[in-house]
Amino acid sequence: MINKIIIIIKLFFYKLTGNIAKNKEDYDVVSSTYDSYFTKLMGKHTLELLNKIEINPEDRVLDLACGTGFGSARIAEILDDRGSLVLVDQSEGMIGVARERLKKFTELNLEIHQSDVMKILEILPSGSFDVVFCGWAICYMNHPKFMAQISRILKQSGKVGIIDTRQKTEMSLMNAYERVILKDPSYIKKYLNISHLVDVDHIKELFTKNKLTVLESYEDSEPIPTESFQDILDWVEKSGISTDYVDVVDRKRYGEFRENIIAEINKDFSSGNYELARYYVAGVAYKSHK
Ligand SMILES: C[S@@+](CC[C@H](N)C(=O)[O-])C[C@H]1O[C@@H](n2cnc3c(N)ncnc32)[C@H](O)[C@@H]1O
Repeated sequence: MINKIIIIIKLFFYKLTGNIAKNKEDYDVVSSTYDSYFTKLMGKHTLELLNKIEINPEDRVLDLACGTGFGSARIAEILDDRGSLVLVDQSEGMIGVARERLKKFTELNLEIHQSDVMKILEILPSGSFDVVFCGWAICYMNHPKFMAQISRILKQSGKVGIIDTRQKTEMSLMNAYERVILKDPSYIKKYLNISHLVDVDHIKELFTKNKLTVLESYEDSEPIPTESFQDILDWVEKSGISTDYVDVVDRKRYGEFRENIIAEINKDFSSGNYELARYYVAGVAYKSHK
């Protein structure tokens, strides 16, 4: 109990003093393995959402936090050298993979920006995009400000598609993480600034509050294959899912922290007390207001 209070006070202090964990460098690190793990498992859901947006070949499309460009490449195929595509991501490593992937679309009107999403959104002209897509990254944004900007930059009848992890995902991993920091709160050195969507109603509310009309919204989960303990470790360390949590912890003690996490996960895995699935929420909406 006392450690829980210590953690709450520490986090409150770090938030107040702006000592916020960053994930940019950690995304650089996983950029070479991200597609073999995260995209391999979750990419089909990204494609399912892109299908629902019904992008047209002449469209001007913005892919926010494009990562390794898996979704961007599908958009580029649909645009078929006719429309234009703008990609934004903060991570040099991730965007480097995207650049390589999109090299073959030589005729496409393509812009790639290594930048913070909010900084780019603020300078884009109003009513300038037919489609805005954001895959697996709204958790890093201030939701109200992010959606307000999207609503502003969309053309009349323009569409937005969003997919992201929702709260209570991969609970076995989250519980192991919590147990380790509860035992020793001194591991925590920064505030974790991510806001996962709560559920499907949450995404609908974000759309409607910004005068966007919901076309589709849904939630589901994808089981993570965990035949061996190594499968779990690979998912944790190579898919990018732990990027958000690395910088929260004292970097000098990260090796020791990692060993403790592994021991906790192993305990649950050996006792069969294990369920690992990525829960997600997605939605498509269009701009119906002037
Ligand atoms: C889980 S990956 C998703 C990548 C890609 N959209 C996909 O569908 O696979 C999250 C991405 O968001 C990027 N990101 C996080 N916060 C960002 C920010 N504030 N500005 C720009 N990119 C950001 C990361 O660099 C990373 O590439």
